[in-house]
Amino acid sequence: MRDAQPGTIYLKDYQVPDFLIDNTDLHFELGEQSSEVRSRLTMRRNPEAANSSSDLVLPGEELSLISLAVDGVALTSDQYQLDINNLTIADLPASFVLDCVTEIKPQLNTSLEGLYKSNTMFCTQCEAEGFRKITYYLDRPDVMSVFTTTVVADKKRYPVLLSNGNNIASGEEGDRHWVRWDDPFKKPAYLFALVAGDLQFVEDHFSTMSGEDVTLRIYVEPKDLDKCEHAMQSLIHSMRWDEDVYGREYDLSIFNIVAVDDFNMGAMENKSLNIFNTSCVLAKPETTTDAGFQRVEGVVAHEYFHNWSGNRVTCRDWFQLSLKEGFTVFRDAEFSADMGSRTVKRVEDVSLMRTVQFAEDGGPMAHPVRPESYMEISNFYTVTIYEKGAEVVRMIANLLGPELFRQGSDLYFKRHDGQAVTCEDFVKAMEDASAKDLTQFRRWYSQAGTPALKVSGDYNAEQQTYCLTVEQDCEASPGQPDKEPFHIPLAMALLGSQAELPLVLAGESPLAASNTERVLDVTQASQQFIFEGVTEAPVPSLLRDFSAPVKLSFDYSRDELMHLMSRDSDGFVRWDAAQQLGLAVLEDMISANQQAVDMQVDERLLQAYRDILADTSLDKAMVALMLCLPTEAYLAELLSPVDVQAIYQARTAARQAIASGLEAELWQVYSDNQIDQPYQPNAEQIARRSLKNTALSYLCLLESEQALAACRHQFDHADNMTDVLAAFNCVLDGGFGDEKARMIEQFYQRWQQESLVVNQWFMAQATCSVQGTLERVKQLMEHPAFDVKNPNKVRALIGAFCGQNAVNFHQIDGAGYRFLADQIITLNKLNPQIAARLVVPLSKWKKYIASSADLMKTELERIMAQPNLSKDVFEQVSKSLK
Ligand code: TRP
Ligand code: ZN
Repeated sequence: MRDAQPGTIYLKDYQVPDFLIDNTDLHFELGEQSSEVRSRLTMRRNPEAANSSSDLVLPGEELSLISLAVDGVALTSDQYQLDINNLTIADLPASFVLDCVTEIKPQLNTSLEGLYKSNTMFCTQCEAEGFRKITYYLDRPDVMSVFTTTVVADKKRYPVLLSNGNNIASGEEGDRHWVRWDDPFKKPAYLFALVAGDLQFVEDHFSTMSGEDVTLRIYVEPKDLDKCEHAMQSLIHSMRWDEDVYGREYDLSIFNIVAVDDFNMGAMENKSLNIFNTSCVLAKPETTTDAGFQRVEGVVAHEYFHNWSGNRVTCRDWFQLSLKEGFTVFRDAEFSADMGSRTVKRVEDVSLMRTVQFAEDGGPMAHPVRPESYMEISNFYTVTIYEKGAEVVRMIANLLGPELFRQGSDLYFKRHDGQAVTCEDFVKAMEDASAKDLTQFRRWYSQAGTPALKVSGDYNAEQQTYCLTVEQDCEASPGQPDKEPFHIPLAMALLGSQAELPLVLAGESPLAASNTERVLDVTQASQQFIFEGVTEAPVPSLLRDFSAPVKLSFDYSRDELMHLMSRDSDGFVRWDAAQQLGLAVLEDMISANQQAVDMQVDERLLQAYRDILADTSLDKAMVALMLCLPTEAYLAELLSPVDVQAIYQARTAARQAIASGLEAELWQVYSDNQIDQPYQPNAEQIARRSLKNTALSYLCLLESEQALAACRHQFDHADNMTDVLAAFNCVLDGGFGDEKARMIEQFYQRWQQESLVVNQWFMAQATCSVQGTLERVKQLMEHPAFDVKNPNKVRALIGAFCGQNAVNFHQIDGAGYRFLADQIITLNKLNPQIAARLVVPLSKWKKYIASSADLMKTELERIMAQPNLSKDVFEQVSKSLK
């Protein structure tokens, strides 16, 4: 908790550490009331430090200090200073051994940071600054040390004792036993991990490209042993992929994953001991949706890839967080694209960017990919650091091309192995390997905000030229009123009526005319590109594959959008054209709704959807995606001020019109895509289920007996959670009164033993659009299966209601806002990281219509007035109110 106004930390104040820790020897005595941590640090002054006589300042929080000794001599209390954040020792020699004993209480730790208990298991979470809740330490990523760890605990309760590296010794003493672990790789404290519990494992092996055998284990509670196979296969695929694509090999003979129920995020890449939220590792068809399977695959890969992009080469300071996260998200996205459908993966990622990330980048919490300041680093594990950071790496990869990008990554890993480095080091390695100039490109790291690209085209039939005018501009961000132009790679083509046209820029030799796609380097505020030899008026295909994270506008006619939808060779542009057509139609309907006139659906939208359904050249998963209107979240991001109720009304009316206009076609799709093979989470089956269930959700809007019967049948007989949940969601959202209660009850009865399925049950009810959902959510918080201390439960009920149920969260009396503020106030004390994340839906208050904005602001002010706000919540709320 905060005693005074929390301070701000600045990148510009970075200094190398005054001391280094060559060796860290830890000893844990785990107990039921408290645990003792003995640390022996072999330390020396940093030869690069500015001051060679400075005090040693060791961060430590919520620790009871038992004893301290330097070179074996105990320190008396006048020889050091303690405050709530630090231990300070003066007059230390050039090198010494520091012994420190502390007592901690993991049983009472609800922040899930440091050493804590999840169910009966001890586990740790140290990133970013959790190690200081375990012992006094130089808890910063540029202090890298070799660790040995001895874990001692009760034999019966904790038969499994794990830490990083290799098991080098073990033994027993009465009721207790111990294991010593040795990690030969230097690492910062944030990669430390310890687990003790009554766990069982699934084991497999991997043979590396140089022939080393690696033992792979996934540790879980015994009841979950049947849900590890998918994660294990994903791990093996990831290890092979990183060898094939990046030449990166695993570097120890053991790799462990542990699944824990209580976890603040998805997973953590601790060296050789990855710790996972159960939701990101456990999977089996009966309990896990297709999206769940894909998430497991992606997160397993992400954490595994961190072994190189994060662990072997780590961050100098937390301002460089995107160095490891952006790069690793790019790596896992490419892996998932290779494992499944590339275009679908791209569309999903772009959707996340354009809704959540663009909203963050245009709001009060906007920050650059490399932030310049923070109060609480936990608040900076954001979509900007992760997803925009990945887009920035993707742009570099595209600017360099595959060969040079690989040479750049090889150089980066070679040059910086074993070091803690900066985003600049990454860019420099890419530059050095490719001889490309990335000077202007670096602005992507320093400037926040989403650039807007305004593009217009002018065809001159006489001269056969086509002139594209591109203007870029970037919104102001907190602390950054003015922006310099970005280097924006704009991938494009020109579609003729029959084919893509050759692209020859003025001044170029027409011999180079075989290119029908190229990447324009947009570097100025305003620029023109003149194409020659253009034989007909083209439709430009712009920002192919979302070649840069920008908001692009071009004044297409609806007919041109339909042309792009059906003709473009770029999957992303085809999908985006469908989105733009949907958007244009919905904008008309929204303003009709606001003016209380009849909402009319443009017939062309129905025709376009009919064409999509008939287009056999399209991947079925793409058909499903293209049949979805822009989401409420995307509409909210684009429209200002946001009128949630009008958006919902318009979108629902359009969906109903599509359902009745295309009823026969949708039933055809529904029956054509039934699968009679056993469930497999492969791209082909996933695509069919997604198309089938998209059709079902339209059909249910008609509230016909036939639709209800289809849902019933699917709910009662499907062999997989994807189909069960799809039917469940349709019925919850629809007008099928009696059936609802039956399904809610039956679903719970069937799955009450499976915590992750119960989370889906909570979430389905929390995201339901019918009136009265807030009351239902409040009731569910009293349900015996709900636990406010478990982040997955909080996310499933509170997070989903406030973040994914706009029409109910924004109910006009402000009751949704009041509810959320109450939850934030409760969680502030229990788990500040989770509390701070829940602030996001309120933080965007300025974007909403005035009546909503006022009510949201009032709730933010109520939170702000609470005593003892955590740094986490204080930062988010105070920035939202600025
Ligand atoms: N580094 C982790 C990842 O790659 C995420 C992480 C950061 C995290 N801080 C955390 C996980 C706190 C759990 C708790 O995704
Ligand atoms: Zn990560």
